[in-house]
Amino acid sequence: MSNTAINFTYIVSAVLFIFGLKMLGSPATARKGNMLSAIGMLLAIGAVMMTNGLSFHYIIIAALIGGVIGFFAAKLVAMTSMPEMVALFNGSGGIASLFVGWSVYHYHPHGDMLTSITTILSVLIGGVTFTGSLIAWAKLSEKMSSKPVIYPGQQIVNSLAMLAFVGASVMFCMDPAANYPLFVGVVIASFILGVMVVIPIGGGDMPVVISLLNSYSGLAACAAGFVIQNNILIVAGSMVGAAGIILTNIMCKAMNRSLSNVLFSGFGSTTQKKGDGPQGEAKPISVQDAYYILEAAQSVVFVPGYGMAVAQAQHVVRELGEILQENGAEVSYAIHPVAGRMPGHMNVLLAEANVPYDQLIEMDDINPNMPNIDVAVVIGANDVVNPAARHDESSPIYGMPIIDVDQAKTVFVLKRSMNPGFAGIQNELFFGENTRMLFGDAKASISGLIAEFKD
Ligand code: TAP
Repeated sequence: MSNTAINFTYIVSAVLFIFGLKMLGSPATARKGNMLSAIGMLLAIGAVMMTNGLSFHYIIIAALIGGVIGFFAAKLVAMTSMPEMVALFNGSGGIASLFVGWSVYHYHPHGDMLTSITTILSVLIGGVTFTGSLIAWAKLSEKMSSKPVIYPGQQIVNSLAMLAFVGASVMFCMDPAANYPLFVGVVIASFILGVMVVIPIGGGDMPVVISLLNSYSGLAACAAGFVIQNNILIVAGSMVGAAGIILTNIMCKAMNRSLSNVLFSGFGSTTQKKGDGPQGEAKPISVQDAYYILEAAQSVVFVPGYGMAVAQAQHVVRELGEILQENGAEVSYAIHPVAGRMPGHMNVLLAEANVPYDQLIEMDDINPNMPNIDVAVVIGANDVVNPAARHDESSPIYGMPIIDVDQAKTVFVLKRSMNPGFAGIQNELFFGENTRMLFGDAKASISGLIAEFKD
């Protein structure tokens, strides 16, 4: 295939990536967007295979093995474990870029300055992404403690390691051919650095870290693209780099925290002790009494959170929503941008349960209407509905935008106990005048309500 034809195919792939990314921005078009990007990737791989002089037998074998692993991993993974899988995918991207850089250097050690710089960048960012992602995966899947690992002078140690790393990289670029051992040293150092930068971050913040590592994996791929002078790798890598950093920023904003606070504060290393935080008496309610109130409600808002994912209650929630609608109530679903443990977590679950997209209402749109809502049903959400975020300056979540369920006429909170959520703090909502606690697994409670309606 001629170079012109290959580059033309790359441009088509890049256009498909751009439209695919754009379509991923809305739940209604996300599936199509994913498919479009996948077709773009298939075209790009096809074009690479057609490059003159390339022996593609090994590539086909590797692509088949990778494709089968990817297919089964995506099919089998539980929705709640999706962040772990993304972490592993990012890590794979990082190590692939590292190997691309290394192999080019191994076979052509006398590269020019630009090739040496991009090689060392693909190795540095690829190595950090690889081990950083493994630590993120281990923390999320509780293969290691999710607590932040913090020791005195940690940031100084990390900064010195980074400086040594930069120094070694500069020396390498001055005379790459004579510095193979230094190069191997840089590879090992990048692995160590990846571990060191992720261990001080608490397990709960891992989704933000994963998004950041996703951005890094894109940058590593982009650098590898420069090393092997492959245009589509440069374009796709920079898109992943940009998309990852934008998503990281969105998440930080929705938690009202800066990126440096996420990376360096050790958030989650201390949790509120029993007895700290708001006091009062929580008022439990039975399924039957909750049914009587819901039966009379004209407007109901469901507010899902992490607990809905744990309970896998999305299908019964949709069923209850339909029953309430048939009963004459106006039903909507309020979506907080960081409810759950990954971006779009609630959208994905509700879409899986076929909840109509037009019933999903963003936080900023639902809040002004909250005082008119008869019943807000909080399903396994906690931090994202904690009113302390609005007024308690001493709260770790102060300033985080929340869904104002406390302003609804009645609030049901469905959870199993009085235990705190991700931020480790008690929630004053539970003691509110208009709040009733419906204790139990969310799926069981909602199923109980459905049974009452059907009786
Ligand atoms: P959380 O505050 O973590 O609260 C989840 C609640 O679900 C818990 O209080 C738990 O209470 C309840 N729960 C667990 N299993 C349940 C079950 N089977 N049935 C019923 N309830 C169950 O969740 P949230 O309100 O969604 O907030 C998300 C938090 O994660 C925020 O603090 C956010 O900043 C953080 N975070 C989110 C992201 C993204 S991107 N989404 C990224 C990083 C951090 P019980 O144990 O008493 O049942």
